[in-house]
Amino acid sequence: MAQSVTACRDVRPFHMEGGRYEQYVYSYPHKLAYGPIEPARSLAEVWAREPKDSLFLYVHVPFCEQRCGFCNLFTFANPNEELPDRYMAALERQMLRTRAALGAGATFSQYAVGGGTPTYLSAASLARLLDRLSEVMGLDTRAPGSVETSPVTATEARLRVLRERGVTRVSMGVQSFDDEESASVGRRQSARDVHEAVRRIRGLGFPTLNLDLMYGLPEQSEARFLASLRAALEHRPEELYLYPLYVRRLTVLGRATTTGADDRRWDDVRVALYRAGRALLLSEGYAQVSMRMFRRGDAPATTAEASYQCQRDGMVGLGPGARSYTDRVHYSTAYAVGPQRVRSILESYADATQEDFDCIIWGYELSDEEKRRRFVLLSLLHESGLDCSAYANRFGADPREHVPELAELLLANASEPLLVRRGDRLVLTSAGLERSDQIGPYLMSAAVRERVARGPSA
Ligand SMILES: C[S@@+](CC[C@H](N)C(=O)[O-])C[C@H]1O[C@@H](n2cnc3c(N)ncnc32)[C@H](O)[C@@H]1O
Ligand code: SF4
Repeated sequence: MAQSVTACRDVRPFHMEGGRYEQYVYSYPHKLAYGPIEPARSLAEVWAREPKDSLFLYVHVPFCEQRCGFCNLFTFANPNEELPDRYMAALERQMLRTRAALGAGATFSQYAVGGGTPTYLSAASLARLLDRLSEVMGLDTRAPGSVETSPVTATEARLRVLRERGVTRVSMGVQSFDDEESASVGRRQSARDVHEAVRRIRGLGFPTLNLDLMYGLPEQSEARFLASLRAALEHRPEELYLYPLYVRRLTVLGRATTTGADDRRWDDVRVALYRAGRALLLSEGYAQVSMRMFRRGDAPATTAEASYQCQRDGMVGLGPGARSYTDRVHYSTAYAVGPQRVRSILESYADATQEDFDCIIWGYELSDEEKRRRFVLLSLLHESGLDCSAYANRFGADPREHVPELAELLLANASEPLLVRRGDRLVLTSAGLERSDQIGPYLMSAAVRERVARGPSA
Protein backbone atom coordinates (compact mmCIF):
# COMPACT_ATOMS: atom_id res chain seq x y z
CA MET A 1 0.00 0.00 0.00
CA ALA A 2 1.37 3.44 -0.91
CA GLN A 3 2.31 5.84 1.87
CA SER A 4 -0.44 8.40 2.24
CA VAL A 5 -0.73 12.04 3.23
CA THR A 6 -4.50 11.73 3.60
CA ALA A 7 -4.22 11.68 7.37
CA CYS A 8 -3.57 15.43 7.44
CA ARG A 9 -5.21 16.58 4.14
CA ASP A 10 -8.60 15.74 2.75
CA VAL A 11 -7.39 14.02 -0.39
CA ARG A 12 -8.09 10.66 -2.01
CA PRO A 13 -5.22 8.18 -1.80
CA PHE A 14 -3.59 7.04 -5.06
CA HIS A 15 -3.91 3.27 -5.35
CA MET A 16 -1.04 1.55 -7.13
CA GLU A 17 -3.17 -1.55 -7.37
CA GLY A 18 -5.93 0.38 -9.20
CA GLY A 19 -6.60 -0.03 -12.94
CA ARG A 20 -3.99 1.58 -15.18
CA TYR A 21 -6.44 2.17 -18.03
CA GLU A 22 -9.21 4.32 -16.60
CA GLN A 23 -9.43 7.16 -19.08
CA TYR A 24 -7.38 8.88 -21.78
CA VAL A 25 -7.16 12.50 -20.56
CA TYR A 26 -6.15 14.62 -23.57
CA SER A 27 -8.03 17.68 -22.48
CA TYR A 28 -9.66 18.96 -19.33
CA PRO A 29 -12.48 19.10 -18.45
CA HIS A 30 -13.36 16.06 -20.56
CA LYS A 31 -16.09 16.59 -23.15
CA LEU A 32 -18.27 14.08 -21.31
CA ALA A 33 -18.44 16.58 -18.43
CA TYR A 34 -20.10 19.19 -20.67
CA GLY A 35 -23.78 19.92 -20.17
CA PRO A 36 -26.44 22.54 -20.97
CA ILE A 37 -25.33 26.17 -20.52
CA GLU A 38 -28.34 28.00 -19.13
CA PRO A 39 -29.12 30.68 -19.98
CA ALA A 40 -27.41 30.41 -23.38
CA ARG A 41 -24.34 32.64 -23.80
CA SER A 42 -23.58 34.77 -26.81
CA LEU A 43 -20.51 33.84 -28.83
CA ALA A 44 -19.38 37.47 -29.13
CA GLU A 45 -19.65 38.03 -25.37
CA VAL A 46 -17.73 34.84 -24.49
CA TRP A 47 -14.85 35.83 -26.78
CA ALA A 48 -14.92 39.57 -26.01
CA ARG A 49 -12.10 39.79 -23.49
CA GLU A 50 -9.97 36.87 -24.69
CA PRO A 51 -6.47 37.31 -26.14
CA LYS A 52 -6.99 36.56 -29.85
CA ASP A 53 -3.61 37.12 -31.44
CA SER A 54 -2.56 33.45 -31.56
CA LEU A 55 -5.62 31.22 -31.71
CA PHE A 56 -5.83 27.56 -32.68
CA LEU A 57 -8.46 26.74 -35.30
CA TYR A 58 -9.96 23.23 -35.28
CA VAL A 59 -12.41 21.91 -37.87
CA HIS A 60 -14.24 18.64 -37.30
CA VAL A 61 -15.29 16.47 -40.23
CA PRO A 62 -17.71 13.88 -38.84
CA PHE A 63 -17.69 11.32 -41.66
CA CYS A 64 -15.89 8.01 -42.23
CA GLU A 65 -15.92 5.21 -44.77
CA GLN A 66 -16.53 2.71 -41.95
CA ARG A 67 -17.30 2.62 -38.23
CA CYS A 68 -14.34 0.84 -36.64
CA GLY A 69 -15.25 -1.61 -33.90
CA PHE A 70 -13.42 0.30 -31.15
CA CYS A 71 -14.31 3.85 -32.15
CA ASN A 72 -16.52 6.10 -30.03
CA LEU A 73 -15.62 9.34 -31.78
CA PHE A 74 -18.29 11.71 -33.04
CA THR A 75 -18.58 10.46 -36.61
CA PHE A 76 -21.04 8.92 -39.04
CA ALA A 77 -20.13 6.11 -41.46
CA ASN A 78 -21.10 6.34 -45.13
CA PRO A 79 -23.68 9.16 -44.97
CA ASN A 80 -26.04 9.57 -47.90
CA GLU A 81 -24.67 11.67 -50.74
CA GLU A 82 -26.24 15.00 -49.83
CA LEU A 83 -25.28 15.14 -46.13
CA PRO A 84 -21.60 16.12 -46.63
CA ASP A 85 -22.68 18.97 -48.95
CA ARG A 86 -25.29 20.24 -46.48
CA TYR A 87 -22.68 19.93 -43.75
CA MET A 88 -20.19 22.02 -45.78
CA ALA A 89 -22.81 24.72 -46.34
CA ALA A 90 -23.59 24.80 -42.59
CA LEU A 91 -19.89 24.98 -41.82
CA GLU A 92 -19.64 28.09 -43.98
CA ARG A 93 -22.54 29.69 -42.10
CA GLN A 94 -20.80 28.89 -38.83
CA MET A 95 -17.53 30.37 -40.15
CA LEU A 96 -19.26 33.66 -41.03
CA ARG A 97 -20.81 34.06 -37.58
CA THR A 98 -17.72 32.91 -35.72
CA ARG A 99 -15.48 35.30 -37.62
CA ALA A 100 -17.91 38.16 -36.88
CA ALA A 101 -18.00 37.25 -33.17
CA LEU A 102 -14.20 37.05 -32.90
CA GLY A 103 -13.76 40.50 -34.41
CA ALA A 104 -11.22 41.90 -36.84
CA GLY A 105 -8.08 41.43 -34.72
CA ALA A 106 -8.31 37.66 -34.30
CA THR A 107 -5.40 35.70 -35.80
CA PHE A 108 -4.81 31.98 -36.04
CA SER A 109 -1.30 30.67 -35.51
CA GLN A 110 -2.12 26.95 -36.04
CA TYR A 111 -4.94 24.84 -37.37
CA ALA A 112 -6.04 21.21 -37.56
CA VAL A 113 -8.73 19.38 -39.49
CA GLY A 114 -9.75 16.19 -37.70
CA GLY A 115 -12.58 13.76 -37.41
CA GLY A 116 -13.83 11.34 -38.29
CA THR A 117 -11.86 11.24 -41.47
CA PRO A 118 -11.51 14.63 -43.22
CA THR A 119 -10.29 12.91 -46.39
CA TYR A 120 -13.66 11.17 -46.64
CA LEU A 121 -14.60 14.46 -48.37
CA SER A 122 -13.90 14.65 -52.10
CA ALA A 123 -10.81 16.51 -53.34
CA ALA A 124 -13.08 19.36 -54.50
CA SER A 125 -14.78 19.63 -51.09
CA LEU A 126 -11.44 19.57 -49.27
CA ALA A 127 -10.19 22.35 -51.54
CA ARG A 128 -13.35 24.36 -50.84
CA LEU A 129 -13.02 23.79 -47.10
CA LEU A 130 -9.40 24.97 -46.94
CA ASP A 131 -10.09 27.92 -49.25
CA ARG A 132 -13.01 29.07 -47.07
CA LEU A 133 -10.84 28.81 -43.97
CA SER A 134 -8.53 31.40 -45.45
CA GLU A 135 -11.18 33.56 -47.17
CA VAL A 136 -13.78 33.62 -44.38
CA MET A 137 -11.84 32.82 -41.20
CA GLY A 138 -8.74 34.74 -42.30
CA LEU A 139 -6.46 31.71 -41.80
CA ASP A 140 -2.95 32.38 -43.07
CA THR A 141 -2.14 29.27 -45.10
CA ARG A 142 1.52 29.59 -44.07
CA ALA A 143 0.49 28.71 -40.48
CA PRO A 144 1.33 25.11 -39.47
CA GLY A 145 -1.68 22.90 -40.16
CA SER A 146 -2.51 19.25 -39.61
CA VAL A 147 -5.06 17.04 -41.37
CA GLU A 148 -6.15 13.53 -40.37
CA THR A 149 -6.53 10.82 -42.94
CA SER A 150 -7.05 7.07 -43.30
CA PRO A 151 -5.29 4.63 -45.64
CA VAL A 152 -8.24 4.10 -47.98
CA THR A 153 -9.18 7.78 -48.33
CA ALA A 154 -5.62 9.16 -48.67
CA THR A 155 -5.80 9.36 -52.47
CA GLU A 156 -3.25 11.21 -54.59
CA ALA A 157 -5.84 13.85 -55.61
CA ARG A 158 -6.92 14.66 -52.05
CA LEU A 159 -3.35 14.70 -50.71
CA ARG A 160 -2.32 17.00 -53.53
CA VAL A 161 -5.04 19.47 -52.50
CA LEU A 162 -3.68 19.45 -48.95
CA ARG A 163 -0.08 19.91 -50.06
CA GLU A 164 -0.93 22.73 -52.48
CA ARG A 165 -2.75 24.58 -49.72
CA GLY A 166 0.19 24.42 -47.34
CA VAL A 167 -0.81 21.65 -44.91
CA THR A 168 2.35 20.76 -42.96
CA ARG A 169 1.33 17.60 -41.08
CA VAL A 170 -0.63 14.56 -42.20
CA SER A 171 -1.75 12.16 -39.49
CA MET A 172 -2.93 8.73 -40.52
CA GLY A 173 -4.82 6.24 -38.37
CA VAL A 174 -3.22 2.90 -39.26
CA GLN A 175 -3.88 0.94 -36.04
CA SER A 176 -2.23 -2.22 -37.41
CA PHE A 177 -0.24 -3.51 -40.39
CA ASP A 178 -1.63 -6.98 -39.71
CA ASP A 179 -4.57 -7.76 -41.99
CA GLU A 180 -6.22 -10.16 -39.55
CA GLU A 181 -6.03 -7.63 -36.73
CA SER A 182 -7.51 -4.90 -38.93
CA ALA A 183 -10.35 -7.19 -39.92
CA SER A 184 -10.96 -8.12 -36.26
CA VAL A 185 -11.82 -4.49 -35.50
CA GLY A 186 -13.82 -3.92 -38.68
CA ARG A 187 -11.25 -1.89 -40.61
CA ARG A 188 -11.35 -2.50 -44.33
CA GLN A 189 -7.66 -2.05 -45.12
CA SER A 190 -4.70 -4.24 -45.99
CA ALA A 191 -1.06 -3.66 -45.05
CA ARG A 192 -0.45 -3.06 -48.76
CA ASP A 193 -3.03 -0.23 -48.79
CA VAL A 194 -1.34 1.33 -45.79
CA HIS A 195 2.19 1.19 -47.24
CA GLU A 196 0.94 2.65 -50.52
CA ALA A 197 -0.89 5.46 -48.74
CA VAL A 198 2.23 6.32 -46.73
CA ARG A 199 4.31 6.34 -49.91
CA ARG A 200 1.85 8.77 -51.50
CA ILE A 201 2.12 11.07 -48.45
CA ARG A 202 5.91 10.84 -48.46
CA GLY A 203 6.01 11.37 -52.23
CA LEU A 204 4.33 14.76 -51.86
CA GLY A 205 6.87 15.90 -49.26
CA PHE A 206 4.69 16.90 -46.27
CA PRO A 207 7.10 18.07 -43.53
CA THR A 208 5.52 15.87 -40.84
CA LEU A 209 3.97 12.43 -41.07
CA ASN A 210 2.26 10.97 -38.01
CA LEU A 211 1.07 7.36 -37.81
CA ASP A 212 -1.32 6.03 -35.13
CA LEU A 213 -0.97 2.41 -34.01
CA MET A 214 -2.94 0.50 -31.39
CA TYR A 215 -1.96 -2.23 -28.95
CA GLY A 216 -4.12 -4.68 -27.03
CA LEU A 217 -6.16 -5.55 -30.16
CA PRO A 218 -7.95 -8.94 -30.10
CA GLU A 219 -5.44 -11.80 -30.52
CA GLN A 220 -2.50 -9.38 -30.85
CA SER A 221 0.71 -11.00 -29.54
CA GLU A 222 3.82 -9.00 -28.72
CA ALA A 223 5.51 -10.35 -31.86
CA ARG A 224 2.59 -9.21 -34.05
CA PHE A 225 2.47 -5.79 -32.44
CA LEU A 226 6.22 -5.29 -32.89
CA ALA A 227 5.94 -6.45 -36.50
CA SER A 228 3.36 -3.67 -37.08
CA LEU A 229 5.58 -1.16 -35.38
CA ARG A 230 8.57 -2.21 -37.52
CA ALA A 231 6.42 -1.85 -40.63
CA ALA A 232 5.56 1.71 -39.56
CA LEU A 233 9.24 2.43 -38.87
CA GLU A 234 10.15 1.54 -42.47
CA HIS A 235 8.72 4.98 -43.32
CA ARG A 236 10.59 6.79 -40.52
CA PRO A 237 7.55 8.92 -39.54
CA GLU A 238 8.40 12.10 -37.68
CA GLU A 239 5.75 11.18 -35.11
CA LEU A 240 4.18 7.95 -33.91
CA TYR A 241 1.28 7.56 -31.50
CA LEU A 242 0.80 4.25 -29.69
CA TYR A 243 -2.75 3.93 -28.34
CA PRO A 244 -3.77 1.23 -25.84
CA LEU A 245 -7.09 -0.22 -26.97
CA TYR A 246 -10.04 0.88 -24.89
CA VAL A 247 -13.24 -1.08 -25.19
CA ARG A 248 -15.94 1.50 -24.70
CA ARG A 249 -19.66 1.40 -24.16
CA LEU A 250 -21.83 1.78 -27.29
CA THR A 251 -19.07 0.61 -29.68
CA VAL A 252 -19.23 -2.61 -31.70
CA LEU A 253 -16.43 -4.16 -29.59
CA GLY A 254 -18.09 -2.90 -26.41
CA ARG A 255 -21.26 -4.78 -27.26
CA ALA A 256 -19.35 -7.95 -28.18
CA THR A 257 -17.11 -8.37 -25.14
CA THR A 258 -17.22 -8.27 -21.37
CA THR A 259 -13.58 -7.08 -21.09
CA GLY A 260 -13.61 -3.86 -19.14
CA ALA A 261 -11.73 -1.36 -17.00
CA ASP A 262 -11.57 -3.79 -14.07
CA ASP A 263 -9.83 -6.60 -15.99
CA ARG A 264 -6.32 -6.56 -14.46
CA ARG A 265 -5.05 -9.39 -16.67
CA TRP A 266 -5.81 -7.32 -19.74
CA ASP A 267 -4.06 -4.36 -18.08
CA ASP A 268 -0.97 -6.57 -17.79
CA VAL A 269 -1.17 -7.49 -21.47
CA ARG A 270 -1.41 -3.85 -22.52
CA VAL A 271 1.39 -2.63 -20.27
CA ALA A 272 3.71 -5.40 -21.54
CA LEU A 273 2.97 -4.38 -25.15
CA TYR A 274 3.49 -0.71 -24.28
CA ARG A 275 6.89 -1.44 -22.74
CA ALA A 276 7.97 -3.52 -25.73
CA GLY A 277 6.83 -0.83 -28.18
CA ARG A 278 8.44 1.97 -26.21
CA ALA A 279 11.75 0.09 -25.96
CA LEU A 280 11.80 -0.48 -29.72
CA LEU A 281 11.07 3.19 -30.45
CA LEU A 282 13.71 4.46 -28.04
CA SER A 283 16.25 2.08 -29.61
CA GLU A 284 15.29 3.47 -33.03
CA GLY A 285 16.10 7.04 -32.02
CA TYR A 286 12.60 8.24 -31.05
CA ALA A 287 12.00 10.37 -27.97
CA GLN A 288 8.92 9.97 -25.78
CA VAL A 289 6.76 13.08 -25.51
CA SER A 290 3.82 11.63 -23.58
CA MET A 291 2.45 8.17 -22.83
CA ARG A 292 1.17 7.86 -26.40
CA MET A 293 3.36 10.20 -28.41
CA PHE A 294 6.86 9.58 -29.74
CA ARG A 295 8.87 11.94 -31.93
CA ARG A 296 11.80 11.01 -34.15
CA GLY A 297 14.94 12.39 -32.50
CA ASP A 298 16.08 14.32 -35.58
CA ALA A 299 12.64 15.72 -36.51
CA PRO A 300 12.24 19.51 -36.24
CA ALA A 301 11.12 20.27 -32.66
CA THR A 302 8.17 22.43 -33.69
CA THR A 303 6.21 19.61 -35.32
CA ALA A 304 5.23 17.95 -32.04
CA GLU A 305 3.99 21.08 -30.39
CA ALA A 306 0.88 21.31 -32.57
CA SER A 307 -0.78 18.41 -30.80
CA TYR A 308 0.29 19.62 -27.39
CA GLN A 309 -0.71 23.24 -27.69
CA CYS A 310 -4.04 22.62 -29.30
CA GLN A 311 -5.27 21.58 -25.86
CA ARG A 312 -4.39 25.04 -24.54
CA ASP A 313 -6.66 28.03 -24.15
CA GLY A 314 -7.74 29.95 -27.23
CA MET A 315 -9.14 27.23 -29.48
CA VAL A 316 -11.91 27.95 -31.96
CA GLY A 317 -13.78 24.83 -33.07
CA LEU A 318 -15.98 24.55 -36.15
CA GLY A 319 -18.36 21.72 -36.97
CA PRO A 320 -20.47 19.43 -34.82
CA GLY A 321 -18.28 17.61 -32.31
CA ALA A 322 -15.58 20.32 -32.31
CA ARG A 323 -14.72 21.85 -28.96
CA SER A 324 -13.83 25.51 -28.44
CA TYR A 325 -11.87 26.83 -25.47
CA THR A 326 -11.85 30.26 -23.94
CA ASP A 327 -10.26 30.90 -20.57
CA ARG A 328 -13.55 30.36 -18.69
CA VAL A 329 -15.92 28.61 -21.05
CA HIS A 330 -15.36 25.42 -23.04
CA TYR A 331 -18.15 24.58 -25.45
CA SER A 332 -19.21 22.31 -28.33
CA THR A 333 -22.34 20.81 -29.78
CA ALA A 334 -23.94 17.90 -27.93
CA TYR A 335 -21.98 14.64 -28.15
CA ALA A 336 -23.12 11.12 -28.98
CA VAL A 337 -21.79 7.78 -30.22
CA GLY A 338 -24.77 5.72 -31.39
CA PRO A 339 -25.64 6.24 -35.08
CA GLN A 340 -29.18 7.51 -34.50
CA ARG A 341 -28.20 10.24 -32.06
CA VAL A 342 -25.12 11.20 -34.14
CA ARG A 343 -27.34 11.43 -37.21
CA SER A 344 -29.89 13.62 -35.46
CA ILE A 345 -27.18 16.00 -34.14
CA LEU A 346 -25.69 16.16 -37.65
CA GLU A 347 -29.11 16.85 -39.19
CA SER A 348 -29.79 19.72 -36.82
CA TYR A 349 -26.30 21.10 -37.49
CA ALA A 350 -26.89 20.92 -41.24
CA ASP A 351 -30.26 22.73 -40.85
CA ALA A 352 -28.93 25.44 -38.50
CA THR A 353 -29.36 29.06 -39.58
CA GLN A 354 -26.54 31.60 -39.28
CA GLU A 355 -28.18 33.03 -36.15
CA ASP A 356 -28.21 29.61 -34.47
CA PHE A 357 -24.41 29.76 -34.42
CA ASP A 358 -24.45 32.96 -32.33
CA CYS A 359 -25.36 31.09 -29.15
CA ILE A 360 -23.52 28.69 -26.89
CA ILE A 361 -25.87 26.16 -25.32
CA TRP A 362 -23.63 23.18 -24.44
CA GLY A 363 -20.33 23.21 -22.59
CA TYR A 364 -18.59 23.74 -19.27
CA GLU A 365 -17.93 26.92 -17.29
CA LEU A 366 -14.57 26.51 -15.55
CA SER A 367 -14.25 27.59 -11.93
CA ASP A 368 -10.85 28.83 -10.70
CA GLU A 369 -10.22 25.34 -9.32
CA GLU A 370 -10.91 23.74 -12.70
CA LYS A 371 -8.55 26.19 -14.43
CA ARG A 372 -5.80 25.29 -12.00
CA ARG A 373 -6.40 21.56 -12.42
CA ARG A 374 -6.38 21.99 -16.19
CA PHE A 375 -2.95 23.58 -16.08
CA VAL A 376 -1.56 20.90 -13.75
CA LEU A 377 -3.05 17.96 -15.63
CA LEU A 378 -2.08 18.95 -19.15
CA SER A 379 1.46 19.89 -18.11
CA LEU A 380 2.07 16.80 -16.04
CA LEU A 381 1.03 14.30 -18.70
CA HIS A 382 3.67 15.73 -21.06
CA GLU A 383 7.31 14.67 -20.67
CA SER A 384 8.39 18.24 -19.85
CA GLY A 385 6.24 18.19 -16.71
CA LEU A 386 4.78 20.94 -14.56
CA ASP A 387 6.74 24.19 -14.25
CA CYS A 388 5.97 25.26 -10.65
CA SER A 389 7.17 28.86 -11.16
CA ALA A 390 5.03 29.31 -14.27
CA TYR A 391 2.11 27.91 -12.28
CA ALA A 392 2.79 30.25 -9.33
CA ASN A 393 3.04 33.25 -11.67
CA ARG A 394 -0.35 32.47 -13.10
CA PHE A 395 -2.22 31.21 -10.03
CA GLY A 396 -0.40 32.80 -7.09
CA ALA A 397 0.78 29.73 -5.16
CA ASP A 398 2.69 26.49 -5.46
CA PRO A 399 0.62 23.86 -7.33
CA ARG A 400 0.94 21.44 -4.36
CA GLU A 401 -1.04 23.90 -2.23
CA HIS A 402 -3.90 23.99 -4.71
CA VAL A 403 -3.86 20.37 -5.88
CA PRO A 404 -3.02 18.21 -2.85
CA GLU A 405 -3.12 15.03 -4.95
CA LEU A 406 0.35 16.05 -6.18
CA ALA A 407 1.80 15.37 -2.72
CA GLU A 408 0.18 11.91 -2.79
CA LEU A 409 1.74 11.21 -6.17
CA LEU A 410 5.17 12.36 -4.94
CA LEU A 411 4.97 9.78 -2.14
CA ALA A 412 3.29 6.95 -4.04
CA ASN A 413 5.34 3.84 -4.74
CA ALA A 414 8.54 4.77 -2.89
CA SER A 415 10.51 1.90 -4.47
CA GLU A 416 9.86 3.21 -7.99
CA PRO A 417 8.53 6.79 -7.78
CA LEU A 418 5.88 8.01 -10.23
CA LEU A 419 6.52 11.73 -9.83
CA VAL A 420 9.77 13.50 -8.93
CA ARG A 421 11.05 17.05 -8.47
CA ARG A 422 13.51 18.11 -11.15
CA GLY A 423 14.70 21.65 -10.38
CA ASP A 424 11.58 23.76 -10.37
CA ARG A 425 9.50 21.17 -12.15
CA LEU A 426 7.41 18.18 -11.18
CA VAL A 427 8.01 15.48 -13.76
CA LEU A 428 6.52 12.01 -14.23
CA THR A 429 9.11 9.23 -14.27
CA SER A 430 8.79 6.47 -16.87
CA ALA A 431 6.81 4.49 -14.25
CA GLY A 432 4.52 7.51 -13.90
CA LEU A 433 4.20 8.22 -17.62
CA GLU A 434 2.99 4.67 -18.28
CA ARG A 435 0.29 5.27 -15.64
CA SER A 436 -0.92 8.47 -17.34
CA ASP A 437 -4.42 7.04 -17.85
CA GLN A 438 -4.71 6.45 -14.09
CA ILE A 439 -2.95 9.65 -12.97
CA GLY A 440 -5.01 11.85 -15.31
CA PRO A 441 -8.39 10.77 -13.87
CA TYR A 442 -6.92 10.89 -10.34
CA LEU A 443 -6.19 14.60 -10.82
CA MET A 444 -9.70 15.46 -12.01
CA SER A 445 -12.02 17.29 -9.64
CA ALA A 446 -14.79 15.25 -8.03
CA ALA A 447 -17.42 17.13 -10.07
CA VAL A 448 -15.77 16.37 -13.42
CA ARG A 449 -15.06 12.76 -12.49
CA GLU A 450 -18.67 12.18 -11.60
CA ARG A 451 -19.98 13.66 -14.84
CA VAL A 452 -17.47 11.71 -16.95
CA ALA A 453 -18.39 8.44 -15.20
CA ARG A 454 -21.96 8.79 -16.49
CA GLY A 455 -20.60 8.38 -20.05
CA PRO A 456 -22.13 9.55 -23.34
CA SER A 457 -25.79 9.29 -24.17
CA ALA A 458 -26.61 6.75 -26.87
C1 LIG B 1 -9.05 11.01 -33.86
S1 LIG B 1 -8.76 9.31 -34.17
C2 LIG B 1 -8.69 9.47 -35.94
C3 LIG B 1 -8.48 8.28 -36.74
C4 LIG B 1 -8.66 8.17 -38.24
N1 LIG B 1 -9.96 8.60 -38.63
C5 LIG B 1 -8.45 6.72 -38.64
O1 LIG B 1 -8.03 6.38 -39.70
O2 LIG B 1 -8.68 5.85 -37.82
C6 LIG B 1 -7.16 9.17 -33.53
C7 LIG B 1 -6.75 7.82 -33.02
O3 LIG B 1 -7.35 7.46 -31.78
C8 LIG B 1 -7.15 6.07 -31.59
N2 LIG B 1 -8.36 5.48 -31.04
C9 LIG B 1 -9.63 5.71 -31.41
N3 LIG B 1 -10.48 4.95 -30.65
C10 LIG B 1 -9.72 4.25 -29.78
C11 LIG B 1 -9.99 3.29 -28.75
N4 LIG B 1 -11.22 2.88 -28.46
N5 LIG B 1 -8.94 2.79 -28.07
C12 LIG B 1 -7.69 3.19 -28.34
N6 LIG B 1 -7.38 4.06 -29.30
C13 LIG B 1 -8.37 4.59 -30.02
C14 LIG B 1 -6.81 5.48 -32.95
O4 LIG B 1 -5.45 5.11 -32.99
C15 LIG B 1 -7.04 6.64 -33.88
O5 LIG B 1 -6.23 6.61 -35.01
S1 SF4 C 1 -11.17 5.13 -35.97
FE1 SF4 C 1 -11.10 6.70 -37.51
S2 SF4 C 1 -11.90 5.72 -39.40
FE2 SF4 C 1 -12.49 4.42 -37.68
S3 SF4 C 1 -14.56 5.13 -37.20
FE3 SF4 C 1 -13.14 6.20 -35.81
S4 SF4 C 1 -12.71 8.11 -36.82
FE4 SF4 C 1 -13.61 6.74 -38.37
